[in-house]
Amino acid sequence: METLSFDASALKKFVHENELAEMQAMVTAADRQLRDGTGAGADFRDWLHLPTEYDKAEFARIKQAAKKIQADSEVLVVIGIGGSYLGARMAIDFLHDSFYQAQAPADRKQPLVLFAGNSLSSSYLADLLRLIGDRDFSVNVISKSGTTTEPSIAFRVFRQRLEAKYGEAGANARIYATTDRQRGALKTEADAAGWETFVIPDGVGGRFSVLTAVGLLPIAVSGADIDQLMAGAAKAAATYTDPDLTTNAAYRYAAYRNILYRKGYTTELLENYEPNMTMLAEWWKQLAGESEGKDQKGIYPSSANFTTDLHSLGQYIQEGRRNLMETVVKLTEPNHNLPVPSAKSDLDGLKYLEGKEIDWVNTQAYRAVVAAHTAGGVPVMTVNIAKEDEFTLGYLIYYFEVAMAISGYLNGINPFNQPGVEAYKTNMFGLLGKPGYEAIGQQLKKEIND
Ligand code: PA5
Repeated sequence: METLSFDASALKKFVHENELAEMQAMVTAADRQLRDGTGAGADFRDWLHLPTEYDKAEFARIKQAAKKIQADSEVLVVIGIGGSYLGARMAIDFLHDSFYQAQAPADRKQPLVLFAGNSLSSSYLADLLRLIGDRDFSVNVISKSGTTTEPSIAFRVFRQRLEAKYGEAGANARIYATTDRQRGALKTEADAAGWETFVIPDGVGGRFSVLTAVGLLPIAVSGADIDQLMAGAAKAAATYTDPDLTTNAAYRYAAYRNILYRKGYTTELLENYEPNMTMLAEWWKQLAGESEGKDQKGIYPSSANFTTDLHSLGQYIQEGRRNLMETVVKLTEPNHNLPVPSAKSDLDGLKYLEGKEIDWVNTQAYRAVVAAHTAGGVPVMTVNIAKEDEFTLGYLIYYFEVAMAISGYLNGINPFNQPGVEAYKTNMFGLLGKPGYEAIGQQLKKEIND
């Protein structure tokens, strides 16, 4: 089977046959904006060629650092937020045993990779410190700016613990900073302390950075094969170059999303039938939401995990407000395929399924859901992937990245900026009393009667 295939056959009720071809001119124009750099945000397109034009020397250093961490640490704490953590988090879940984090060290063989600095929960930090306990650990702090509040606070906490355990010099040998090549607070601090540093390239925005050191170091530490990840992405990069909608499955996905959006389907649910793809949806939500949600328009990206959420969100999807579209990432070959066991009695009424593969049952559930939701007025698209391995994931990452870029241009926005994420920060700094933000703080306090 192909690494990935896109299935829009369930859209017949929602999209006329002529509509896709009628999008071709717009898609071709969007492709030119992307490839020639004539579209908005052109300085942030370096992810396009990353799968082949990455820094090979740094890639080798990432592997070396991963080996060192595997040898001297039971835990790697990855500190970052948004684009500085979601890619690694989703990849590690996707590529490993469902209970990878709970496995005994002898079974897991590689360090536990845990994440911090992606919230301001004090309890989470305290719980993570307790979990690490006396175990040997290292820290990979990831921040382009080096001044993002959440990771900066978490980094102070774990740096303090490292220094208490290993002394200042010992701690410095266990801190890996992934940040700007030249500028920024973290780069300055890393150079002063002698931490090994890796680069977040200038031309790659956070949500497109999983195939840089941002994602690659934690993923390599987890024991996954980052060569295969890049090889899969390179295959996708070579596959999705021709804008012809009859052959380009990534552009076809972008075009159908746009057709549906214009018809009022303003929320897209990314769905899966494998629990270890829950974080894939979180990564995709940032990619889609930060790329497209601007100028008071854009598809709202949401997600659902099936069959779990059929028992919670299923009612809404079937019969609620008709502004939903669904994109399913469906796995064809699961890592394991257990049969439904035989039992002495048939009180649960499952005799008819005895001996059938559980994955076959899962697939029938998927088919039943597509039919039911289609009948209920929800357009469903499916991205079929062959396997949960590194090559497939690299391919899938690139597929979604290029689709979102085209989708953004089709909707007339800059897919590569994120001006809106600053608004809450200004208010928060005001309320926290950060120097320079006092007036905003006073105004806000008055407004909320604090
Ligand atoms: O995509 C983005 O730009 C954001 O999600 C950032 O990655 C996130 O805000 C973290 O920023 P920084 O890497 O500067 O700490």
